[in-house]
Amino acid sequence: MSIAHEETILIVDFGSQVTQLIARRVREAGVYSEIAPFNSAEEAFHRLKPKGVILSGSPAGVPEEGSPRAPQVIFDSGLPILGICYGQQVMTHQLGGEVRPGHETGPDDLSRGGEFGRAYLTVTEGCVLFDGLWEVGERHQVWMSHGDKVTRFAEGFRIVATSEGAPFALIADDERRYYGTQFHPEVVHTPDGGKLIANFVRHVCGCAGDWTMAEYKDAKIAEIREQVGDKKVICGLSGGVDSSVAAILIHEAIGDQLTCVFVDHGLLRLNEREQVETLFRDHYNIPLVVVDAEARFMKGLAGETDPERKRKFIGGEFIEVFDEEAARVGGADFLAQGTLYPDVIESVSFTGGPSVTIKSHHNVGGLPARMNMKLVEPLRELFKDEVRDLGRELGLNDQFVGRHPFPGPGLAIRIPGEVTKERCDILRKADAIYLEEIRSAGLYDAIWQAFAVLLPVKTVGVMGDSRTYDNVCGLRAVTSTDGMTADVYPFDASFLTRVSTRIVNEVKGINRVVYDYTSKPPGTIEWE
Ligand code: XMP
Repeated sequence: MSIAHEETILIVDFGSQVTQLIARRVREAGVYSEIAPFNSAEEAFHRLKPKGVILSGSPAGVPEEGSPRAPQVIFDSGLPILGICYGQQVMTHQLGGEVRPGHETGPDDLSRGGEFGRAYLTVTEGCVLFDGLWEVGERHQVWMSHGDKVTRFAEGFRIVATSEGAPFALIADDERRYYGTQFHPEVVHTPDGGKLIANFVRHVCGCAGDWTMAEYKDAKIAEIREQVGDKKVICGLSGGVDSSVAAILIHEAIGDQLTCVFVDHGLLRLNEREQVETLFRDHYNIPLVVVDAEARFMKGLAGETDPERKRKFIGGEFIEVFDEEAARVGGADFLAQGTLYPDVIESVSFTGGPSVTIKSHHNVGGLPARMNMKLVEPLRELFKDEVRDLGRELGLNDQFVGRHPFPGPGLAIRIPGEVTKERCDILRKADAIYLEEIRSAGLYDAIWQAFAVLLPVKTVGVMGDSRTYDNVCGLRAVTSTDGMTADVYPFDASFLTRVSTRIVNEVKGINRVVYDYTSKPPGTIEWE
């Protein structure tokens, strides 16, 4: 189920790796957007009733046999269309123009010629997309990534910007309101790209650009009320941003028909459980069941050193505990989850049609089927930073909504080897000092994730006049945009020295601190 937005832009996905960025840029212009794979785009078109359509890029080439096409209905509809890269080419082809391989030499990308990377275009004619932005005669940086090129455009088009490798860098048919860019306006390397897209959705499609989180919140609340009726909803809280925002939103919609369950598996950070209790019980007055399951998890983890078996045990045990508690509160008809838009966008494979891989995100994996519950997923249409905006709209402070991600298995995957309560306690203290120093240095928001790790090795040290033989603590801090790749955060030596000194002095059980200088790949962010 999705809200009927008054103004929507449909993005037809041909499998480009950056299609999501188009959706982001449109939303940044204040207009709701949805992505649909090319071969279910016709259904999405009828469902969404968009004000305009954007055709994405693709790893495919229009001249290749079997390469994807846009549904005819969008050309028949009379709506404005913006074709980006492959989108420009497929539009040209479907409207009667011609697209040929860059150099017509071979099948692989580079030998096909074309342009890859930064390029400069020259504005040759005025165009509504340039309103308040570009003037005739100016040169501007754009990002190109294409092998093929348009060699003859369809009737009705004119060239409004050219580049060396792409004479048809930007084409326009003002009468039909069709526009095509050979470059990618959606990526940051096209500095004015967001504004070009904003001009398309506002000045060409006529969208008001007043899609806001406040409006979204109200519409979602109405939708949740309609979906749930007078039934009961249960929500597993992790303490993270997504499940918290989902729970608070649902509570605004249906009040105490919602019960939240927070499982303390003993693998949480310092004071985390108390923070969740205060926030939900005292601040939002949301019915909250806190389950103290530490002993049960520690018993199950005793003697286990294999990372995957640790993860499996924690996941399985979490479901057991949650299941028992749900039964104790009298069951529920719906399970709430903090699923986000990137988890539900279907990925497209241009050869075999939209792939069946729809990643589903399971905070409490396997539960809905097992407990015969329907799902309430109020964040399904949002990107992560939109969830943060929604959180702010619901009254959460910046510090809470900006929290670093924390994995479901918690500290267990930051304690290589056997996990014990004693080791968790040591790690909690070191981790808290590290994060406190990061916050007071004003670095927290510049870092994707920062945490301490407790290594299963002991080393010799000296404190005062005595020899110590204690644990090694590793510090990790990375920058990232999605957790898929990551760079090491380059702290000053003086910062690391301060943290190291504090940890060794203040945490009994640690006598040495090391900094992890491994990017991802080849390392992973967590140590297990
Ligand atoms: P890695 O270690 O794979 O982590 O580079 C990438 C991101 O995923 C998080 N992560 C997990 N989250 N359950 C989770 O909920 C897990 O088992 C898990 N393992 C890693 C990690 O914190 C990082 O943000």
